[in-house]
Amino acid sequence: MTDRVLALLAPALEPQGSVMVDATLGRAGHASALLSQHPGLNLIGVDADDAAIEESREVLAPYAGRVTLVQARYDAIGEILAEFGHPSVHGVLFDLGVSSPQLDDPRRGFAYSTDAPLDMRMDRAGELTAADVVNTYSAARLAQVLREYGEERFARRIADAVVRERSKAPLTSTMRLSEIIRDSIPAPARRSGGNPAKRTFQALRIEVNGELEALQRALPVALDALAVGGRIVVLAYHSLEDRAVKRALAGAAADTTPPGLPVQLAESRPRFRLLTRGAERPTEAELTANPRAASARLRAAERVRAAA
Ligand SMILES: C[S@@+](CC[C@H](N)C(=O)[O-])C[C@H]1O[C@@H](n2cnc3c(N)ncnc32)[C@H](O)[C@@H]1O
Repeated sequence: MTDRVLALLAPALEPQGSVMVDATLGRAGHASALLSQHPGLNLIGVDADDAAIEESREVLAPYAGRVTLVQARYDAIGEILAEFGHPSVHGVLFDLGVSSPQLDDPRRGFAYSTDAPLDMRMDRAGELTAADVVNTYSAARLAQVLREYGEERFARRIADAVVRERSKAPLTSTMRLSEIIRDSIPAPARRSGGNPAKRTFQALRIEVNGELEALQRALPVALDALAVGGRIVVLAYHSLEDRAVKRALAGAAADTTPPGLPVQLAESRPRFRLLTRGAERPTEAELTANPRAASARLRAAERVRAAA
C-alpha cells in the first residue's frame, strides 16, 4: 500500500521546508520513497529498535542533510518534536507492528518457525521479554493476553499447558513454545488457519512491547502536532490497533457542539476531515506481491482547523 500512503501524504509535504514524522521508521522503505518524492521535505524518523535506526541510517545516507533519526518509542513524539524545535509538522506516518527484518532475524524471537530465545522486544533495552510473560504470568492473565491480543479461541488451554510445562523447566525457546501451543490445540482446529502458534506469538509481541498502550498515548499527541493542512496516515495490522486508530481519527473529525445547541460553535467545528472511507484494505495484486500485508488496514485524515 506504499503508493496509497505516498499519494495521501503528498499534498501536505509538497511545500519547501515541510516536516514529517515517520513514527515507525523500520528499514526506511516509506521514508526513502517520501524523501525522494519531495525534495523539500525534512523527515524525523523514529523507531524503538536500534537495529532499525542503524540500518536506516545507511539507507537514508543520500538524504542525510534532511533526516533526523531518533531511537525511541513513538509515544515520546511530543518530547522529540520539542527537542528538535518543531512545534508543528505537516505529516505523520504510523506503519504499526513488526517489520519483515525483525521477523526474519531469528535472534529476535518474533518468529515461530525458527528456534530462538523467547525475546520479542522491539526496544532491546526494554525490561519485559516474552520469556518473562510465559514464565511468570498466571494462567488466567496469560489466557487473557492470548484471547485479547491474539483472538485465540484456545487461549485457556494454551495458558494451562504453558503453566504445566514451565513447572518442569522454564520456557526459553520459541520452538518449545510452538510445540506446546500445537499440542494444546485440538487436531481438527490445527488443520485450518495456518500455523497454530501465529496468534499466540502475535499476542505475546503486543504484550511485551505494550503496543496498544503506546499507540493510544501517541495518536492524540500526533494529531495535536499537525499544522492545518497536515496529514496523518496509519497502517494497522490488528483489529484492536485499527479500532484505536478509528476512534482517535473519528473523535478528531467530529463536531463537538453540545447536543441541543441551535448554532454550531466555531471552537466545536471538526479539527480534522477523514481522507479514507472506513479502512482501506490491500488489493489482490498487493497481496500476491506481499502476503504479509493481508491484515493491513489504512486510515488517514487531514487537519482542517487550528486549536481553539
Ligand atoms: C511495519 S514496521 C515499519 C516499516 C517501515 N514503514 C518501512 O517502510 O520500512 C514497524 C516498525 O515499528 C517499530 N515500532 C513498533 N512499535 C514501536 C513503538 N512503540 N515505538 C517506536 N517504534 C515502534 C518496529 O520496531 C518496526 O521497525
